Amino acid sequence: MTIPSELKPLGDPLEQAKRAAAYKAVDENISLNYKYVGIGSGSTVVYIVERLSQLPLSKNFIYVPTSFQSKKLILDSGLRLSNVDDINIDSDHVLDITFDGADEVDTSLNCIKGGGACLFQEKLIASLSKNFIIVADYRKKSPSYLGVNWLKGIPIEVVPMAWSKIRNDLLNKFSANKVTLRQGGVNKAGPVVTDNGNFILDVEFGILDVDSFDLLKFNQQIKNLVGVVETGLFISMAKKAYFGHGDGSVSSIS
Ligand code: 5RP
Repeated sequence: MTIPSELKPLGDPLEQAKRAAAYKAVDENISLNYKYVGIGSGSTVVYIVERLSQLPLSKNFIYVPTSFQSKKLILDSGLRLSNVDDINIDSDHVLDITFDGADEVDTSLNCIKGGGACLFQEKLIASLSKNFIIVADYRKKSPSYLGVNWLKGIPIEVVPMAWSKIRNDLLNKFSANKVTLRQGGVNKAGPVVTDNGNFILDVEFGILDVDSFDLLKFNQQIKNLVGVVETGLFISMAKKAYFGHGDGSVSSIS
């Protein structure tokens, strides 16, 4: 695919890549039959909202955000906003589709997310979505497993008072190589505080070779630690992932 002709070239190949992936993902997946559309978080979903806003059918949908950032994006684009707690949840999948970014995607569509600290709301919305579609630039596509390209570790959202205890458990019971309390909160000082009032631990485990261990079980064991709110491991949730490249082409896996 080439960048749609109505777009002005951005000059930056990375932005071109993000935009190309987002446009293709919207064009291939959006349907007039849909009602609820989830909007993920991060810099790539900006182009999802940009593309949706260009389509007349976008006025038919109700948009559900996954962060303060995506809530603002929806409002600033003049689209209809709802919140997940305002929707009548009467089935497993009340949202028709959600578009979201990722920090890394493996060849089986497992993802690391949470680079922007929005992982809890992102996972909640993804879990309620019939179709969970990833949009990313070429850097996010792992040639094999998670942990190959993304070296900052798996983000884990924790209740603030439990961070030190969870850090200790991850190092001693889960053999994590390194656990970092993410910094850069208010005025760039102190820990990052999520939209839910929690902290983020970035946990380095090395490469997650899913052929030799059970990622779902591993994730569940981490979640069982008291004080863990959610992890940035999105296992078997994505239906399709689009990767934009600097030349405007897009590859995908499904
Ligand atoms: C936020 C996320 C983002 O989707 C992820 O970090 C990718 O962001 P970007 O599109 O800016 O690369 O998980 O918590």
